[in-house]
Amino acid sequence: MKVEQIYDFAAGFYDHLFGRAFQHGREKSAGRINDRAEHGAQVLEVGLGTGLSLPLYRQDLHITGIDISEKMLERARRRVASDDLKTDIRIMNMDATKLQFEDNRFDFVVAMYVASVVPDPAAFLREISRVCKVRGEVIVVNHFASQNRLVGAFERLLAGLESVIGFKSDFPLERVLNFADFQLIRLERVNAFRYWHLLHFRNAPQTGVEYPPPRLAYSSAAY
Ligand SMILES: C[S@@+](CC[C@H](N)C(=O)[O-])C[C@H]1O[C@@H](n2cnc3c(N)ncnc32)[C@H](O)[C@@H]1O
Repeated sequence: MKVEQIYDFAAGFYDHLFGRAFQHGREKSAGRINDRAEHGAQVLEVGLGTGLSLPLYRQDLHITGIDISEKMLERARRRVASDDLKTDIRIMNMDATKLQFEDNRFDFVVAMYVASVVPDPAAFLREISRVCKVRGEVIVVNHFASQNRLVGAFERLLAGLESVIGFKSDFPLERVLNFADFQLIRLERVNAFRYWHLLHFRNAPQTGVEYPPPRLAYSSAAY
């Protein structure tokens, strides 16, 4: 099954399963943006889903939310209307691996529970870096492969069901942490059992720009 079909199907019960369970990560991400953004900053939320994060943003921010599942977005649009949200919010059906925005467009890009869902994570990372301003900020919240032997073995078993459950249960932290165009600002653990990671980066594309010396590669063993 394609990812959009899985989430079109899940749209009706998504909030019941993953609403409260993932809310801590959403609150932490929106909180970081609210604390650091200048007045009127442009924020892109990739993989907006049903828009559970939308009420959490500061009202002066300009939020653009994209997702590949139209049914998830229908819920997000309904939420904007029913909660009577005052924030400037644009909702668009778009593939995160082929973003239809110009380079350097957003001050912040945030992707919650999406990195292990997109079929092509490398294209996803390249695209969010491209549309984020140079020295802008990127936040990725995700579950990554556990370092615990037993849990890791279970995750590898589950990985065979990706086309049914809609995510890679054994997605390695290093895929995001060591992406060459991001510099880590902060890493924290979120949600139940601190089982998910929030990675907060500065966007520092390598091409033709002078930056401080590249940081050392990180290993998930340290986290
Ligand atoms: C686990 S849900 C997370 C939704 C939301 N961020 C949240 O906090 O609940 C993953 C979302 O990513 C979306 N998605 C998957 N692949 C995508 C892609 N290539 N482009 C855009 N959105 C995608 C799915 O449709 C789904 O809404």
